Amino acid sequence: MSAPALKVKTPAKVNWALEVLRRRDDGFHELALVFQAVGLWDELSFWKKASGLELAVLESPVPLGTDPSNLVLRAARLFFEAAGLPEGLRVELTKRIPVAAGLGGGSSDAAATLWALNRLYGTDFSLAQLRHLGAQLGSDVPFFLTGGTALGLGRGEQVTPWDPAPTRWLVLVKPQEGLSTPAVYGSGRAAFSTGEKALGMKAALTGGNGPLLAASLFNSLEPAAFHLLPEVEALKNGLLRAGALGALVSGSGPTVFGLAADEAAARAVAEKMRTLAPTVWVVPTVAEGPRIVP
Ligand code: C5P
Repeated sequence: MSAPALKVKTPAKVNWALEVLRRRDDGFHELALVFQAVGLWDELSFWKKASGLELAVLESPVPLGTDPSNLVLRAARLFFEAAGLPEGLRVELTKRIPVAAGLGGGSSDAAATLWALNRLYGTDFSLAQLRHLGAQLGSDVPFFLTGGTALGLGRGEQVTPWDPAPTRWLVLVKPQEGLSTPAVYGSGRAAFSTGEKALGMKAALTGGNGPLLAASLFNSLEPAAFHLLPEVEALKNGLLRAGALGALVSGSGPTVFGLAADEAAARAVAEKMRTLAPTVWVVPTVAEGPRIVP
């Protein structure tokens, strides 16, 4: 097959803070959260075609559906509809971000699709317009249009990018089993809070102080993730014992990230975790979202 018209890579995320403020009438929860893009990347290649939408998964940790409910195809359909263009696209997805892991992989792919098609078709949608489309696909999708570090309010879709913070090194560990986001939110075990911790995270991130950042980590959903999958708590304790400065469940879990002082420390923690966790990655934080692969 000919070279793709556009190839992009798009990162995973963790949340430095995730506070659930209250349950809303629309079934969602009001949040104050701090997103952080991390260097674990999915890749998507795009070809224009005469008609139809086609998705092929080249690589994935688990079998992935390519039916119309796939977020990449939903994003593509939404784009063509908003642009008033006839559908005609082939996408190849190389999936490295685990599925149902709390790392935002599906949302990242959806955002990358909107971002890439806006370039491919020269549609000139503004960032605000792309975010509006993204919010229809999932609460985390608007964040992934710009990535980096950002505050999220509302159900997470109201995004304010923050200045890039110094690069941090994280160890991500994941149990075999995934967790369903609605099950975590719906478990009745979220620890409601005020939003001050998420807002206060800005100061903790800008200084180079690892222990301060570690002490500021907070996730309202952690008790729910521990309850639904006790292995998650064991992984968090394991990371702390292995020398992480702090550790936290990412999003609705079950991935837990450990904050390390630097890359060497992260690799030492990861080495110790390999016997405890089926999957371990060492990743830096990154200051971006989707980007073109030359
Ligand atoms: O927006 P998204 O599709 O990612 O949300 C998946 C599910 O997570 C929702 O259906 C809801 O159960 C839960 N959720 C929530 N409050 C949020 C975000 C997600 O209750 N702010």
